[in-house]
Amino acid sequence: METTRWKQSFSINVAELDRQHKRLFDTVAELEYSLNMGRADTIIDEVLAKVVAHTIEHFAAEEALMYENGFPDLAAHCHEHSMLSQQLTTFNLSHMAGRQGVPVALLEFLKTWLQEHILKSDKKYCDFLNTRLNSDKSEPTPESAALMRQKTQPLS
Ligand SMILES: [Fe+2]
Ligand SMILES: [Fe+2]
Repeated sequence: METTRWKQSFSINVAELDRQHKRLFDTVAELEYSLNMGRADTIIDEVLAKVVAHTIEHFAAEEALMYENGFPDLAAHCHEHSMLSQQLTTFNLSHMAGRQGVPVALLEFLKTWLQEHILKSDKKYCDFLNTRLNSDKSEPTPESAALMRQKTQPLS
């Protein structure tokens, strides 16, 4: 797989979410460039931290927008997000444990995940959200309200 740059075909027609997707692609491109230059070991900490921070911010924004607009497949989408978050934690732990090859594995994983998630899953809410955002009927469903209450409950 070669492309690590955002392109127009990835657009979901919500400017802020497109901007966040671009930023994720830019971070992946940064990792790829460093690998090609033989400098991955010196920037992997920084890239991992950036990917995690940008991902958390993006998922929260995307989930909030889907919730506010009553997207019916919110739970399935949130599940995909949480699987990625767990996988990033696994990469982080492997890296901290000194395992070799984490930058290459992370790069390949992110390239595939980003493209597939945007093209298959994010595109599913694209039409729905764009229709809703252009009308005044936007309301969470009872199911999505319950899910978001769970997600935002403080840890006890
Ligand atoms: Fe998503
Ligand atoms: Fe997304």
